[in-house]
Amino acid sequence: MKRILFIFISLLVTQMTYAVPGTSISISTEKTDLILRVAQDNRLYQVYYGARLSNPEEYADISYEPKETRDGCMAFRGWEVAPGSGSETHFEPVIAITHNDGNPSTYLYYKSHLQYAVEGGVQTDIVLYDDQYPVEVILHYVAFTDENVIKTWKEIRHKEKKPVKLWRYASTILYFRNHEYYVTDFSGDWAKESQMSTQKLEFGKKVLESKMGCRTAIHTGPFFSLGIDEPAKENSGKVMMGTLAWSGNFQFTFEVDNLNHLRVIPSINPYASEYELNPHDTFVTPEFIFTLSENGMGEASRNIHDWARNYQLKNGKGSRLTLLNNWENTSFHFNEEILARLMYEARKLGVDMFLLDDGWFGNNHPRVHDDAGLGDWEVMKSKLPGGISGLIKAADEAGIKFGIWIEPEMVNPKSDLFEKHPDWAILFPNRKPYYHRNQLVLDMSNPDVQDYVFGVVDKILTENPTLSFFKWDCNTPITNIYSPYLKDRQHNLYIDHTLGVMNVFERVQAKYPDVQMMMCSSGGCRNDYNGLKYFGEYWCSDNSDAIERLFIQWGQSHFFPAKSMCAHVTGFVANPSKTVSVKFRLDVSSMCKLGFDLGLKKLTEDEIALCREGVANWKRLSPVILDGDQYRLVSPYEGNHMSVMYASKDKLSAVLFTYDINPRYHEFMYNVKLQGLDPQKIYTIKELNLMPGKKSNLPENGKSYSGDYLMKVGLNAFTERTLNSRMIELIAQ
Ligand code: GLA
Repeated sequence: MKRILFIFISLLVTQMTYAVPGTSISISTEKTDLILRVAQDNRLYQVYYGARLSNPEEYADISYEPKETRDGCMAFRGWEVAPGSGSETHFEPVIAITHNDGNPSTYLYYKSHLQYAVEGGVQTDIVLYDDQYPVEVILHYVAFTDENVIKTWKEIRHKEKKPVKLWRYASTILYFRNHEYYVTDFSGDWAKESQMSTQKLEFGKKVLESKMGCRTAIHTGPFFSLGIDEPAKENSGKVMMGTLAWSGNFQFTFEVDNLNHLRVIPSINPYASEYELNPHDTFVTPEFIFTLSENGMGEASRNIHDWARNYQLKNGKGSRLTLLNNWENTSFHFNEEILARLMYEARKLGVDMFLLDDGWFGNNHPRVHDDAGLGDWEVMKSKLPGGISGLIKAADEAGIKFGIWIEPEMVNPKSDLFEKHPDWAILFPNRKPYYHRNQLVLDMSNPDVQDYVFGVVDKILTENPTLSFFKWDCNTPITNIYSPYLKDRQHNLYIDHTLGVMNVFERVQAKYPDVQMMMCSSGGCRNDYNGLKYFGEYWCSDNSDAIERLFIQWGQSHFFPAKSMCAHVTGFVANPSKTVSVKFRLDVSSMCKLGFDLGLKKLTEDEIALCREGVANWKRLSPVILDGDQYRLVSPYEGNHMSVMYASKDKLSAVLFTYDINPRYHEFMYNVKLQGLDPQKIYTIKELNLMPGKKSNLPENGKSYSGDYLMKVGLNAFTERTLNSRMIELIAQ
């Protein structure tokens, strides 16, 4: 299929087309079509987005023409692909420019388009122009054939005499004409990320947005699900899922109009960001990535997971390092001896790396608390006289790799850096500063600051070329919103700051393509597909309580593959009245990228043996967990249990996780019905991660069943025991 499509596309493309009115442009994946058309007025309209149409010759039959009634009230004005401000659509524009003469209108007309093969699919570039002003907008779409994912963004440029003001610059707009619409958001807070809630969209607007500047996803992530005609379900129904690849302020607008048509507009948040664009400069919007499934969110998520691993996620096809981190265990209180012991413990667990967290730097302002030292990236000599190289040597001796925590975009006022460069921080010249976690955000719109931040990483890696890993944190939203550098262009701050951060990520990637990095922002407060181009994984939440993590991981799995989601076994229990076994914590972390953050001194020998076994099982099965297809089988939102599974692409092996969160007395237990297996194949069932000396009490353990049986009848894997869990391997004969 892929090959035929490729040949077809190769014949069709690499030639600029100047379409006549009525021409359709199809942006097609294997199962979906997005069809645009140049209308009689020479403007571009969306005529269709849905399941793939079998007969391209019927595209022309889809009615889309704007229609007017006599009084104009019920007029259908067409679904313009780039509706501008001041035009007759009267709903939210996706592009708005105040021109040099003060005119705030933009009308965009079709000029030309080009379609050509790119890795994984077809790219379409459509050039639009304003007939009254020297403004050009280029719409880009990449349709990823096999993954049924479309990525779209636009470029805006002009040749007016002076800068213009952009006040709307959405990445795209998508239209739907259905009976009902339901949006699911993934909102929450610090330590409570990605909680799912669904609401029906009625006339008017629903807006999901962030104004945090950086650390953007504290209150809601840059992603959503849209249930079409009914609330989004896991395995059935029409669902669109979308995410914006932007690490700054974002905004999703859902607007239901007077005809019950829905407009979905993903964008950088235009809040306080009327952007001044110089003549000949290009404003590039972030990529909006979306998929449409006729079979619910499960399939839509698998589409996005596949797309991410194949094309977007850093090292998407590579392996990941298991690790022992020290933050939850030691906080700031460690020295070389303690770290050497932890490295030995990491080795004992069988993980690949020791990750040293916050608290290793600062001399004039030692980082012994979170109120000082940030910005002074010199090893604290009193604590670590041997320096980073000494720590790497100790890790070598323990037979593991070494990684380190940094937070280079931030500064404590108590630091050499701030004393030397107070104008490098985002800070009002005339107001009392507001500190979040005792720190300020460095002004990344300033190229000198970008050089400095890149220099932090560059220096550490130049001096320590065998350092394997960075955990790159970002613990503060932008506060005191004023850039000393931008002077009278303050409205560019939110956007130029984010572009500055991206520029540094890009430079690090270019110079050190093999260094692996974890994206962190007080947990999962920065997780987006812009950042994940540079980071192979992210820390899902500072809340590592296993029960809370089930909900957080369930939510984030809708958009991110397990490979990108870090989950650590820690000693933290949110509700001390509950006993959460090490086994339960291990099984919860094993459904993502496994790590640890605890001292082995606190564990019994049996628990240590279990963890060792768990690491070995996870490593052996990581090709299935990290690269297989994920199926969310039982939702923690729907009852007292949860289950997810992973099946390898060849369906020869699978891993099932089941969790009994809060079972009721004598609750009727439903079997867990598996998915994604080969109905014809026979699978042997093996329960893993058992405490030493303990036998499996899974009724089906050791037996063999067909994939057909396992998917229709299922396994008797849930129990009535509170906080019981299972990790089960399925091996095809
Ligand atoms: C953030 C991170 C934590 C830890 C601390 C260190 O909160 O999310 O994992 O690294 O910073 O200060």
